[in-house]
Amino acid sequence: AASKSVVVDGKSYIGDEYTNVTPKILSFIGNNNHNCKGHPLNLFKQRLIDFFYDHFRGRTGNPIFSIYDKISPVVTTNENFDSLLVPKDHPSRNKTDSYYLNKTYMLRAHCTAHQSELIKMGLDNFVIFGDVYRRDEIDATHYPVFHQADGVHIFTPNELELIYGSNVNIFDNDQNNSNNEKQGVYSIEANDIVTNHLKETLVAMIKKVFGEEIEYRWISEYFPFTHPSFELEINYNGQWIEALGCGVIRHEILKNAGAGNRIGWAFGLGLERLAMPFYSIPDIRLFWSKDSGFLNQFQNLPKDGRMKYKPISIYPQCINDISFWLPKEKPFCSNDFYELVGNYGGQLVEQVKLVDQFTHPKTGNVSHCYRIVYRHLEKTLSQAEVNEVHKLIEKNATQILGVKLR
Ligand code: PHE
Repeated sequence: AASKSVVVDGKSYIGDEYTNVTPKILSFIGNNNHNCKGHPLNLFKQRLIDFFYDHFRGRTGNPIFSIYDKISPVVTTNENFDSLLVPKDHPSRNKTDSYYLNKTYMLRAHCTAHQSELIKMGLDNFVIFGDVYRRDEIDATHYPVFHQADGVHIFTPNELELIYGSNVNIFDNDQNNSNNEKQGVYSIEANDIVTNHLKETLVAMIKKVFGEEIEYRWISEYFPFTHPSFELEINYNGQWIEALGCGVIRHEILKNAGAGNRIGWAFGLGLERLAMPFYSIPDIRLFWSKDSGFLNQFQNLPKDGRMKYKPISIYPQCINDISFWLPKEKPFCSNDFYELVGNYGGQLVEQVKLVDQFTHPKTGNVSHCYRIVYRHLEKTLSQAEVNEVHKLIEKNATQILGVKLR
């Protein structure tokens, strides 16, 4: 298996001892739920974009943040780790923690993987949205694929001055003066301005999304790519949940990316982690549902709309159609049939609707076709179980309503 190649997006990667992606994992690539109209992740993403567009405007009122949401999840280990100063022996580099195509290419484990590259391109203000991949258990809150938003704000000396009110030195005269609160290279003032700006911005973002009343707290954190680093937690229904990680970008990263004369902040957050409490979605797997019972609830939601998701059964639907000629000797109405389906299908029927009807051009006979969606709330139904109920419905529709099966 070591020499087998892996194909992603039409590109072939030669396998080696690092290769650990599975066909199942590769099948998630290109789904881009965060870009699918009406998907809760897309709706949530739009709220974050709206915040950044509104909150940061240029002289002419133009938004200054650029949004990137179509960058391929295939990155180099250099992008994902080295460019961000992640130590060579950091556990996230293990084959047990990340997904590798081979020893050089991997599926990004965070959207921060693109930070250096975008700064190198000359960008100062941007947010990246994308799918990220981590080897993890699967349960209600963990899935090996999820989505992140990663933002960067780099200050021009002019901007710092605007916030501070007067000229401010970005750099410290004593470059070895590093401590828990700041990197050695930066001046205390510049570090304070940027740290406060970072915290104010992210609290404003969380309040814009969850409402002014949202309770939050800051926790000191560690990331190899920021210092100081923080985590923002929000209280949702009495539970503290980690909302995002952030910090002042390590100067070495900016220097390597050609922005060594600057200072800036960065943050990263999990879209599912915030969208779940926001829409009351109980299970992270539902974000991958193609089930109409799930997705339809988010359709036609107004731009600023918030809704509470109504749980549907997590067990699969079983769909059977029934077609018949209506009786000629007595009247027939669809509601009679719906009621009959309810009587004989009981709890197993989730939806029933008329999907097709036509009148025979010669005989004048009318035919109806109904789609019945079966689903049990506590278990997966077998086709045999469904067929039994379906037969019962057919038999009674014939006997009671006088229809003739086609
Ligand atoms: N990449 C970090 C994560 O996935 C989040 C982060 C991004 C933290 C940028 C700081 C700065 O947890």
